[in-house]
Amino acid sequence: MAIPNKVRIVEVGPRDGLQNEAQNVPAAIKIELIDRLTDAGLPVIEATAFVSPKWVPQMADNAEVMKGIRRKPGVGYPVLVPNRKGLDAAIAAGCDEVVVFGAATESFSKRNTNCSIDEGLARFSEVCAEAIARGLKVRGDISVCLGCPYEGEVSPAQVTRVARELFAMGCYEITIADTIGAGTPGKTRAVIEAVAIHIPAQKLAGHFHDTYGQALANTLAALECGVATFDSSVAGLGGCPYAKGATGNVATEDLLYMLDGMGISTGIDMQKLVAAGEFISKALGRPTQSRVARAMAAKSATA
Ligand code: HMG
Ligand code: MG
Repeated sequence: MAIPNKVRIVEVGPRDGLQNEAQNVPAAIKIELIDRLTDAGLPVIEATAFVSPKWVPQMADNAEVMKGIRRKPGVGYPVLVPNRKGLDAAIAAGCDEVVVFGAATESFSKRNTNCSIDEGLARFSEVCAEAIARGLKVRGDISVCLGCPYEGEVSPAQVTRVARELFAMGCYEITIADTIGAGTPGKTRAVIEAVAIHIPAQKLAGHFHDTYGQALANTLAALECGVATFDSSVAGLGGCPYAKGATGNVATEDLLYMLDGMGISTGIDMQKLVAAGEFISKALGRPTQSRVARAMAAKSATA
């Protein structure tokens, strides 16, 4: 399979990146981050989550964030919804794309959404039907595809079952997520090849956390399977509150550097992206996790 010459990067920093922050991040900071990412040319920015504020307090300002951002025509601003209540709130806030999120293992499904895999799928089926009837787009994420913090090894068959169900409900894209960043390229290839028997690789996305430093290698493996959409997080922010110890997604700056170097187009401006990463790192009071941003800062300091 030829490597795609164009890749769609889905920026998940404002949601996946910030959901795990212990300190309160004001809505104004989230809004400025999203606006800066829009200006940097990101085609899709996962803006927030309409989940229970008791489960993820950091996303409680979801409606305020959606109201405050400057939405550029043609750019997608999807939001996570776990159930019908979340969908209704997202619609009321003016969202036009939602993300349902299931898991490949029972333990993770229970810890993250307090339900079994099948109970979650039943909720998503209702969410998808209603969202699609109202003209919204729905993306489907699957957690722990390359390893589970509670159950360990995950087989491609476990992932394939959930992926097929979500695709059949009308999700336009299925995201293969390595929640704890445990995967390696061979496993990534195996799971994508297994899912791609049923769902074209062009309809799959990679969502690789970088806990073990494997995210870019896994991205390359997925690219070689024909996957052309990847989630990443500016400054490498993030983690999942229900996967303790897991670090952020691959940094968007690092992903972009690799794709630029391979001659793969994304439409993203590196300088503006790095500036957005500097903005949020400063607001959080800690250094960026992006290797590329650090290297560029060191280079300009010595110039
Ligand atoms: P539950 O406690 O079983 O829910 O949680 P419930 O239906 O029993 O309701 C309990 C209370 O929550 C009620 O309020 C509901 O109204 C309220 P009360 O009567 O007690 O005042 N509630 C809500 N409030 C706001 N928005 C809602 C909503 N739903 C119920 N949508 C539930 C079940 C699914 C709601 C909960 O488990 C939840 O919100 N989980 C989300 C956890 C989460 O956001 N995790 C992080 C995102 S996933 C992720 O990071 C992985 C990903 O990046 C991919 C990867 O890397 O793997 C996507
Ligand atoms: Mg994630």
